[in-house]
Amino acid sequence: VSMKAGVKGLVDADITQVPRIFHFPSSALSNNNGPSDISGLNLTVPIIDLGDIIKDHDDNTAARNVVVSKIKEASETWGFFQVINHGVPLTVLEEIKQGVRRFHEEDPEVKKQYTSPTGFNNQKFIYSHNFDLNDSSPLNWRDTFICFLAPDPPNPDEIPLACRDAMIEYSKHVMEFGAFLFQLLSEALSLESEMLKKMDCLKGLFMACNYYPPCPQPDLTLGINKHTDNSFLTLLLQDQIGGLQVLHQDYWVDVPPIPGALVVNIGDFMQLITNDKFSSVEHRVRANRDGPRISVACFFSSSLFPNPTVYGPIKELLSDENPAKYREITIPEYTAGYLANSFDGKSYLSNYR
Ligand code: SIN
Ligand code: FE2
Repeated sequence: VSMKAGVKGLVDADITQVPRIFHFPSSALSNNNGPSDISGLNLTVPIIDLGDIIKDHDDNTAARNVVVSKIKEASETWGFFQVINHGVPLTVLEEIKQGVRRFHEEDPEVKKQYTSPTGFNNQKFIYSHNFDLNDSSPLNWRDTFICFLAPDPPNPDEIPLACRDAMIEYSKHVMEFGAFLFQLLSEALSLESEMLKKMDCLKGLFMACNYYPPCPQPDLTLGINKHTDNSFLTLLLQDQIGGLQVLHQDYWVDVPPIPGALVVNIGDFMQLITNDKFSSVEHRVRANRDGPRISVACFFSSSLFPNPTVYGPIKELLSDENPAKYREITIPEYTAGYLANSFDGKSYLSNYR
């Protein structure tokens, strides 16, 4: 198969069968790892309403404490939650989804300018269908466009026109809302509000603009194989198609699209610095006959390239009863190993225990 025009190129060529390189083993496709039917268990990813604290949050201490304890519980048990009434305007969410769709529906020649045969260099934009450096694993049924937006923002005219204004606007809101979320997470760890920010946990930002073309045989492949995220925290915007699932108590639980909501999930670095208090949980995206599905994942990281900060478990969270479970890492070092090892579905974090 020629992958020059991405997975979308295959669909545009009217293929009716999913090529073999996209086939996942049935173990990776099964709906749950657990014993049986989950319908009776009533498993729902927590939904947290920020409406009472997003404005004037300084003087609504009681409401803020309620939210903080919900975030703590969700971060410990699910590693995932959805936030509603988060303050990012609906129009901004709509525009970034439309901008991402426009980019992926551009002529292949336009997208080709952003391909990178050698993977992550110092490029700010990379268009690809696959980030796995381990060529033996199956390909995902998705195209993606990765944009590195902080700490060194691109010049506006470097950003593809199809999504330029939307991306600039959305990333501003993401940084602002991210700073607020990291305050709440710091409080959920009983740390001073600005602690995670001071540790540079939101100094780096990269955005994965995902496009999941409709799939003719959705039971043979996946939009994204199970993985955990290479970030401190991920903020995800998904459209109404659905397909995102999170592994909880050995069951694959749907993260249902909620209009206007954002999905928040804990990444590997947060699990590391919290010494396993918060969990970086495996998730995946099922393929779908319907589509395209659009999602925009914003990864809060430290700087990926030079001047790496060293991260280990936060000293304030440790005690004689709770000694450090991880050794120290830098983000670039972790990322290199992650890219080479993570997409077979095993968390790479365990290598640092
Ligand atoms: C991801 O996990 O990287 C993307 C999830 C999604 O597209 O919903
Ligand atoms: Fe992810």
